[in-house]
Amino acid sequence: MGLEQAREWLANATAVAVLTGAGISAESGIPTFRGASGLWKQYKPEDLATAEAFARDPLLVWEWYNWRRELIRKAQPNAGHRALVRLEIQKPRFTLITQNVDGLHDLAGSGRILKLHGDIWRMRCTSCGSNWPDRRAPLPKLPPHCGCGGLARPGVVWFGEPLPDGMMQEAEHAAAEAQVLLVVGTSALVYPAAGLIPYAKQAGARVIQVNLEPTPYSNMVDCALEGSAGELLPQLI
Ligand code: APR
Repeated sequence: MGLEQAREWLANATAVAVLTGAGISAESGIPTFRGASGLWKQYKPEDLATAEAFARDPLLVWEWYNWRRELIRKAQPNAGHRALVRLEIQKPRFTLITQNVDGLHDLAGSGRILKLHGDIWRMRCTSCGSNWPDRRAPLPKLPPHCGCGGLARPGVVWFGEPLPDGMMQEAEHAAAEAQVLLVVGTSALVYPAAGLIPYAKQAGARVIQVNLEPTPYSNMVDCALEGSAGELLPQLI
């Protein structure tokens, strides 16, 4: 199945869901996690992206998130992000489900976004539980603290942690009612997010994958387009 067929499926659909991963932000200069120069090639997730790592060394974890925030702050949405904004405008029922914490979909102008893994521009207090937006990069003092004096943590979901309440149910609902699920820039290795792909397929959706490399679902999807999101999405939408 090729680009033309995928274009037609998308054009004819009134209910569309999109699942994005780090690959859609790669062309904005933000490293992916598992690609050739991916973050997990340089750093160990167990040292930086778990509650245990944070309890062990909050400063180390914050130094890393502070570095990522500075990187992301310099980045701009690319043609891939912008194409999804156009798609949202065209579709009566649309949901953008992202694994990304970089906020570039918001910056591009997307509206209905489900952030499965949280938001790097938010903080949460480890004592009082409050959470708030903070876009300062670099942060003036590490580690940052809450007004209550409690230690703040990044507003993201770490390995081994549950997703935000109700988020996965909303994402499954959107995937189940979609006529087309468009999957962009994810290695489809991290669950429960990757589970949305077979879930939508079983519910009868056409699944279109746009990715630089094959994924474990490349043979299951209806159309697997290999290439960059910034090039292919404008052609698809
Ligand atoms: N266009 C399309 N796809 C791309 C591009 C691009 N320009 N650049 C890279 N890719 C693809 C890679 O081939 C890879 O399959 O994007 C995928 C990115 O995969 P990962 O780095 O594993 O990122 P992701 O799937 O989003 O990771 C899921 O894992 O580390 C955790 O919480 C983190 O949300 C993240 C989750």
